[in-house]
Parts: sequence; C-alpha cells; structure tokens
Amino acid sequence: MKDEIQQIQTDAVAAIGAAPDENCLDQARVAFLGKKGRLTAASAGMRSLSKEEKPVVGQLLNTARTVITDALEKRRATLQDAADRAALAGIDLTLPARPVHPGGLHPLTIVKDEAVRILRRLGFAIAAGPEIETEFHCFDALNTPADHPARNEKDTFYFDSGKLLRTHTSTVQIRTMETQAPPVRIIAPGSAYRRDEIDATHLSVFNQLEGLYVAEDVNLPDLKGTLEYFYQSLFGRDTELQFRPHFFPFTEPSFEIDIKLHTRGQRPRWIEIAGCGMVDPAVFEEICKSRGDDLYHPDKVTGFAFGMGLDRLAMIRWGIRDIRLLIENDTRFLRQFA
Ligand code: PHE
Repeated sequence: MKDEIQQIQTDAVAAIGAAPDENCLDQARVAFLGKKGRLTAASAGMRSLSKEEKPVVGQLLNTARTVITDALEKRRATLQDAADRAALAGIDLTLPARPVHPGGLHPLTIVKDEAVRILRRLGFAIAAGPEIETEFHCFDALNTPADHPARNEKDTFYFDSGKLLRTHTSTVQIRTMETQAPPVRIIAPGSAYRRDEIDATHLSVFNQLEGLYVAEDVNLPDLKGTLEYFYQSLFGRDTELQFRPHFFPFTEPSFEIDIKLHTRGQRPRWIEIAGCGMVDPAVFEEICKSRGDDLYHPDKVTGFAFGMGLDRLAMIRWGIRDIRLLIENDTRFLRQFA
C-alpha cells in the first residue's frame, strides 16, 4: 500500500506538470483528488489496515495530498503567467501615449465660484428659487406697480398660465423672507430672462447674483462696506467704486455701482456693474402680509439688497468684448481659461 501511494503521488505530479492548459489541469485534479480519484480510492483501503500500520499510511496519504495540491497550485500559476504574457505580446509599451485633454471650468463658473467664496467669507449663505415665477414674487412683492415697464409683454417672457420667467434674481429675496425668520444674510446666483435683442452686450438668458441682508440696524455704510470689500477682493485692492443714486421700486435709497475700468491704451472709464439699495419698507410690509406675522415689520428690521450680472463680471475680468462668446462653447475661446 505504501508503494501504491508513492506511485499515485509520482503519477499525479507528472500528469500535473504535463497539463498544457487549465482544462487538462482540472481533469488531472479530478483523476487524483476527486471523489472517484486514485488517492481517494487508496484512502478507502485504510480500513483494512492494522492498528500499527494506520498512522504510518495515514501520514503518507496526507503527504501525498499536500504534494499534489501544491503541484496543482504551482502549475495553475505558471499557466496563468504564460497566458498573461501572451496577451501582452502584441502591445508595444514604448509607443507614445495618446494625449489626454483635461477639462476646465467655464469663465462664468470661475467668476461665480469666486464671488460666492468672497461673500461666504462675510457670512452670506446660498439661497435659491424657481426660474418660472409668479408675478407676485417677481414684481408685486417687490413693490413694482402694475404699469411698470419691466412687466410689459415686450420685455418679459410670460406663460399662458400667467407665470413668467423671472426677470431678475430679486425674487429670491421674497422667497427667503417668506420662509425664514430674520436675521437673513443670503446670496442667490442664478439665471434671469429678458426679451432683449441679442447683441454683443445682451442675451435673453443671463446670470445674476443677488444679495440680501436683513437684521436689526443694518445701515447704508454696511452696504457700502460689503460691496467695496467684495469688488476689491474680486478685482484688486485699489479698485475704485462709485455709488450713483438711482431708482429701484424695491429699495430706497437706491444706487447703481460703477467701477473704474482701466484698459491699456484707453482712458479709464466708469462702468455700471450692479444695482443696490436699502430694502424699501413697502417690501417688508408685503412680506408681513404674506407671512401673517410681523417679524419683518419695518420698525423692527432694516436691510440692504444688491444684484449684479455675473456675465458682466466675467467680461470685465478678462476683457471679453462680446457676451455671446460665453454661450457659443467655442473651445478655441474656452480653452484660454482652462
Ligand atoms: N434686480 C435689479 C436688476 O435686475 C438689481 C437690484 C437688486 C437692485 C437688488 C437693487 C437691489 O436690475
């Protein structure tokens, strides 16, 4: 019996070493270690052995099983190696790689991110509202009378339902105050829509950034300081600003902000960059009515608001002459910002 086991082990190792592929290897495993395999059959002979012989033969059987299992493992690894090498044989690793073009951010995204980062530093949180709006949120609650030109069919996209595409992000001022108690300090970047003729400085869809700060005792110097800090962070420390008195229905007093633009080869000139002002008490009264409480009563809170065109900021920042470049997605233009 000892010789038989020895013989099985020798035959198995030889068969395994000669197996040319996985399939044959598996057949060899079954032939020796399978339920009806030769080693299994030999183990069955243990029963007829004497007490003294059993441990010796048992030991031999174990050794044979280990040797055969190891041989199987080794051969499998060798076959796998050969298969891997064959798969790589046709590949020339010295060929130059295909160039990978990394993406880049759109210039509008770059200015928006930067504007948001600066204002978040001052404690403004991001807010949002729908682009399809009610006349109430876009005009009435913002103290805009029924005959105001901005409400005209010629200037605003209306739906048959009476809803409209918001003409400015100031709607988010209303939506925020309707749902949050003061103090609020929010910014809302987003799209706005106007029925403008499309040309080098106008699109019918553009991007704005709205800001609103309402609390006890918010005053005009707060507004000026905030916006000065903002534009100087964005365009450089010695950026000059001017606040020019203006009119908006929802702020009083109201201003337009100009920044002084220095272009090489040209005389510096002021260009308009934002609208702003102190929230009109009429807006607070409308909010109180809509909320059904007096948390925003004009005797309790004051606030400032501002709104600016992000497309404009990008154009100034990089000296872009035509706003249409921002939506044409010409990679020759966009690649410059990547
Ligand atoms: N909503 C105004 C516009 O679109 C800008 C603005 C916002 C003015 C907030 C004052 C306060 O022109």
